[in-house]
Amino acid sequence: MDKIKFKVNGVEYSVGCDVSSTTSLLKFLRNRLELRGTKYMCLEGGCGACIVSVRKCPGAPVQSVNSCLVSITSCKDWEIETIEKVGNRFDGYHPLQKTLAEKNGTQCGYCSPGWVMAMYSLFKGKGKMTMHEIEQSLGSNVCRCTGYRPILEAFKTFASDAPNRNDILDIEDLTICNKTGKACKGKCDDSDWCFVSEDDVSQSKVINIHLKDDKEWFRVEELDDIFKIFKHKGDDCYMLVNGNTGKGVKPIDEYPRLLIDISGVRALKVYFLDQNLVVGGGTTLTTLTEIFDEIGGQDYFSYLKVFNEHLQLVAHIPVKNIGTIAGNLMIKHQHNDFDSDLFLLFETVGAQVTILCRDGVRKTMTMLDFLEENMRGKVLLNILLPPLNKIIKVVTYKIMPRSQNAHAIVNSGYLYHLDKDNKVIACRIAYGGLSPTFTRATRTENELKGKKLFTNETLRSALNVLNDELVVEDMPPAPSVKYRRTLALGLFYKGLLSLCPSNILNRRYKSGTINLHKARPVSDGRQIFETNPLLWPLNQPIPKVEALIQCAGEATFTDDVPTQPREVHAAFALTTAGLGTIDDIDASCALKIPGTIDFFTSKDIPGVNSFTPGGSIASIENEELLCDGTVKYHGQPLGIMVAETRDIAERAAKLVKVKYSNVRKPVIDIKEAKNNPLRTLIFMDFIAKDIGSDIAKVIKNEITLRGQYHFTMETLVSVSRPTDVGIETRTSSQWMDVIQLMTSRVLKIPQNKIDVIIERLGGAYGLKITRATQVAVGCNMVVQKTHNPCRIAQSLETNMRGVGKRLPCTGTYEIAVNKSGVIQYVNYNLYEDNGYVFSEPLILYTLDVYYNCYNNKRWNYKAFNSTTDTASNTWCRSPGTLEAIVMAECMMEHIAYEMSLDPMQVRLANLDSKHDAIKEMYEKLKDDSNYNERRAAVDKFNKENRWKKRGLRFSCMRWAPVSIPVYLDINLSVFTGDGTIVITHSGVEMGQGINTKAVQICAYFLKVPIEKVQIKANNTTSCPNSFVSGGSITSQNVGLGVQRCCEELLKRLSPIRLLLENPTWEQLIAKAAENGLDLQTHGFVSIVDNQIFDAYGVALSEVEIDVITGEYEIRRVDLSEDVGRSVSPEIDIGQVEGAFVMGVGDLTCEELVYDPNTGELLTNRSWDYYVPQARDIPQDFRIYFRKRSYSNDIVLGSKVTGEPATCLAISVPLALREAFVSARSENGLSSKKWYPIDGPYTVEKVCLATATKLEDYKFY
Ligand SMILES: Cc1cc2nc3c(=O)[nH]c(=O)nc-3n(C[C@H](O)[C@H](O)[C@H](O)COP(=O)(O)OP(=O)(O)OC[C@H]3O[C@@H](n4cnc5c(N)ncnc54)[C@H](O)[C@@H]3O)c2cc1C
Ligand code: FES
Ligand code: FES
Repeated sequence: MDKIKFKVNGVEYSVGCDVSSTTSLLKFLRNRLELRGTKYMCLEGGCGACIVSVRKCPGAPVQSVNSCLVSITSCKDWEIETIEKVGNRFDGYHPLQKTLAEKNGTQCGYCSPGWVMAMYSLFKGKGKMTMHEIEQSLGSNVCRCTGYRPILEAFKTFASDAPNRNDILDIEDLTICNKTGKACKGKCDDSDWCFVSEDDVSQSKVINIHLKDDKEWFRVEELDDIFKIFKHKGDDCYMLVNGNTGKGVKPIDEYPRLLIDISGVRALKVYFLDQNLVVGGGTTLTTLTEIFDEIGGQDYFSYLKVFNEHLQLVAHIPVKNIGTIAGNLMIKHQHNDFDSDLFLLFETVGAQVTILCRDGVRKTMTMLDFLEENMRGKVLLNILLPPLNKIIKVVTYKIMPRSQNAHAIVNSGYLYHLDKDNKVIACRIAYGGLSPTFTRATRTENELKGKKLFTNETLRSALNVLNDELVVEDMPPAPSVKYRRTLALGLFYKGLLSLCPSNILNRRYKSGTINLHKARPVSDGRQIFETNPLLWPLNQPIPKVEALIQCAGEATFTDDVPTQPREVHAAFALTTAGLGTIDDIDASCALKIPGTIDFFTSKDIPGVNSFTPGGSIASIENEELLCDGTVKYHGQPLGIMVAETRDIAERAAKLVKVKYSNVRKPVIDIKEAKNNPLRTLIFMDFIAKDIGSDIAKVIKNEITLRGQYHFTMETLVSVSRPTDVGIETRTSSQWMDVIQLMTSRVLKIPQNKIDVIIERLGGAYGLKITRATQVAVGCNMVVQKTHNPCRIAQSLETNMRGVGKRLPCTGTYEIAVNKSGVIQYVNYNLYEDNGYVFSEPLILYTLDVYYNCYNNKRWNYKAFNSTTDTASNTWCRSPGTLEAIVMAECMMEHIAYEMSLDPMQVRLANLDSKHDAIKEMYEKLKDDSNYNERRAAVDKFNKENRWKKRGLRFSCMRWAPVSIPVYLDINLSVFTGDGTIVITHSGVEMGQGINTKAVQICAYFLKVPIEKVQIKANNTTSCPNSFVSGGSITSQNVGLGVQRCCEELLKRLSPIRLLLENPTWEQLIAKAAENGLDLQTHGFVSIVDNQIFDAYGVALSEVEIDVITGEYEIRRVDLSEDVGRSVSPEIDIGQVEGAFVMGVGDLTCEELVYDPNTGELLTNRSWDYYVPQARDIPQDFRIYFRKRSYSNDIVLGSKVTGEPATCLAISVPLALREAFVSARSENGLSSKKWYPIDGPYTVEKVCLATATKLEDYKFY
């Protein structure tokens, strides 16, 4: 039987019939080799957590790949390196790991190995890189915690042009020798370490493997062999596997019967110039850019340079390293709605493809004919790129919802052949993203022929024809038809602007030629805070204590628990109707899939069918673990499928047949629900204490904010096993106690027989407070039913569809103001969308901040709870507070527009004098940020430019922690042998640095080095009854508990100390042991210890928008936050930056799109849901901590930092608003009128808000 051989970290492995078609490199590394340093989340190339380094054959460059996309059987001859090899605690850490750790580029640490591997591969493959190149190359990775700035800063220190590069390390040190594992001296011969000789490689042989799941895998090296396989095995059900990245675009639930790996077929990788540039279909996109670089230097192919700029925006480096031309075009062939950039580029220049049919017949055809061609049993051989005279101009565009790693909303390409008078001899106009069929604007092309291109008349007539012929279809979740049409027309104009001779073009229109993202400079940042060395290690800026192990992949997360004997996997089956009754659930067909084990529904639950502790402060209602028969929302878990592997469980779960009756259209929009008394109940009514009579204007409005998916890099995971008395579960939860409690209630087992262990979380942001319980309890139920260990690592899709998110809300307000914008009265109603049930009282969090920092004596506030037919919404970073503060900030801004006042003056005029700190911080920030000059510069810029506009806006925040129940047991023990200390506390480390702060506080009080202190994982035995880690207060409460432990220990030690003369810590402890002293102390912190204070913040954001496309760049953010006297300033900087960027995501690019008829969430993948990435953050990001701030002694002067800055992100949409209002003014639209925008200020909404008309498009 054939085998595929490869090396991982220098050790040779082989696979054959022991793996399945679904066994990816990732699974092999994690499950077979137990190399769990490589993480994963999306499994579709969208997050970068799984990146590893590979060298595909001797002499080939080192490249990054997404191990989740690569089939293990594709790895023939590969040399694979994982994070474990790059650096570890035994052999020493790699400079990249060390620098990322030192610069605080890791918070929860779940994404960190992926970042290190992406960077490591880049340096190994490319050698020297500039800072700009580094920033551009990291579109492959997502980090939800840090806000990216410290990651970029860490990696840029390795750039060839880094100002302090030599101080950090020499680039040569980065290349670690494959043989020695030490810095490469550059003397090795590549072939020396590759275990396959060149002769072996050149021998052509078909490899044939009968895979474990009955699929057949072939690896061929000759084209002929593909056809031989078709002949003998049939061509009815096959896939030609190149990079296998297509599944990141269109998910593959089950692979076809025959899998033919053609990545080794040399004939598909050749390129040559005959008349055309001929490039083999098997060429990877990375190689394609290299070819374009080389050939683009030739006169007739200079357009390839334009292509290469476009290719920068296609996918990201690891996908391009294995994804091929043919793969891309074939996805387009199979799914015409795919907005392939390659297809677009090729169609723009009239490229052709060669198709190889059986018997060696070759057909050459146009791109459009290719889409019509029946490709069964055929191979896409190559692409023919025509030579084009230099005078022919090619321009292309790709508009994306964020600046990197997103497929196009609309892409377009224009080719113009002009004579010397700029008359059109020929042209081609191509589009993607408009409809599955519309590609070429041929009528417009004809309209242009013979016309002088750069006249307003030609432009007008062409735009009219184009507008008329464009076919734009509704393709949810793609943006609206209106936006995509606007883009198509705008890009046509933009293309012409970019070609228009400058003597024709009006100076104001030149701004339309600039590509905002391309023009983005290398990002910058500053962090300005005070620290008092006399207090150190308290208040000392230090990296996270676990930073290094996180960057090395050594920090273990729940799913890193090694596979246990007899372990089974489970996945939830979800409802596919929005509302209705389940008449029948039939899993019989699904259970026929080999590898399935069992299927459980609500009927199998022995105890209560609820994963929430109804009646508690955190969960008012019991929420069903599994649907009881009445469907509450589309995507509700209705059963648990158990199987041998996660893939089988997930596939089978989707095949469970459910019969529904009484299916109805769900209500999914809070705007509708709020008007329905059956769905909306008043929760609280605050009556104003005063009313003013100086009324110059009454302003009314309604604003709706939408939900936000938490996008934790670690999804909801549980790994459970039966113990001799009950069940032990390791789980990704912010609330250990509830897992134990609900397992006990659901499974009817006493609490003391259930052990819960939580080490750390890969991000949480509130998602894992209660939602993790559903997965954990489901997992425990499988353990109880099957007596096997069980693992549920929930897929991103299920996480997104089945689980609630940030609460959407609608605020309606009527505000009366005087001429200075001072509020006379406010009638303000806020409706919070709880999802299908009002279970988590998040509305409580609005009650103290609905007026933010403004004087509330004239505010009438009514808070309503609404329900919609969507998943039960839940805590999400600054829940309730964010919505309330954002609404209040919008009100201030609205007043300013209506009254033509400076918005900051309106804020100050309404500021509550209790919160004068805001004024002080504003004045300081105004100076620090150079506001006055920049204000003038923005105004000048907006006057001078028609197609780019800027905005500069402040936001203010008062954030008060809410007193929630707290129950934290903190235990501190000292080891007598060496005086080292171990602490367990009931808080959950999820990136917020709780352990680091605990260590600093302990070291401060005990006067020991921080290295002496170790925090250990929590469990329900040492930390029983622990309440939620959340609300930003757990770190300070744990700190208080540690302080109490230390004080108690010091008290006990003080008589011993008197026996010794100035003892060292170790001597003191040894003596204490000798004297039989108990060296374990306990601290308890409860609700009475909660410290309430106000945390303030002011931010100033400057943005620039492209009026034609709606794209934007955040040019600079200055953010001042009142963090008290920080226990750990670097940790708090990270919290502030990360929170702000998460807020920016919520308010700009993260859009959840539901099917209005069924309530199905359509944006349920990384392919469609866009969190900010590294090039979406402020170009210049400056953080200032308020000076001389101090909360109180109990919490050592510190204030909360985890959540507040999320709210300050509203300054970004407000700045975007200023920019688009300026564009609207060009059309004579009043700047006084508030243009309504619901939900995030996406590129679509910004563009449409500019209200640009076709007539506005002119050259002069
Ligand atoms: C995260 C991510 C981001 C992306 N972003 C973009 C983007 O911005 N723009 C864009 O245009 N694309 C984008 N893509 C798509 C990417 O370019 C394609 O996934 C890739 O090019 C497919 O190549 P592959 O070799 O991996 O194909 P595979 O997945 O191996 O194969 C895909 C299909 O092509 C068929 N096939 C492969 N080779 C041949 C051949 N020679 N002849 C006939 N059939 C063949 C296979 O049978 C299969 O059906 C993205 C993909 C991912 C995962
Ligand atoms: S898990 Fe591979 S990219 Fe997300
Ligand atoms: S540190 Fe990057 S996702 Fe948590």
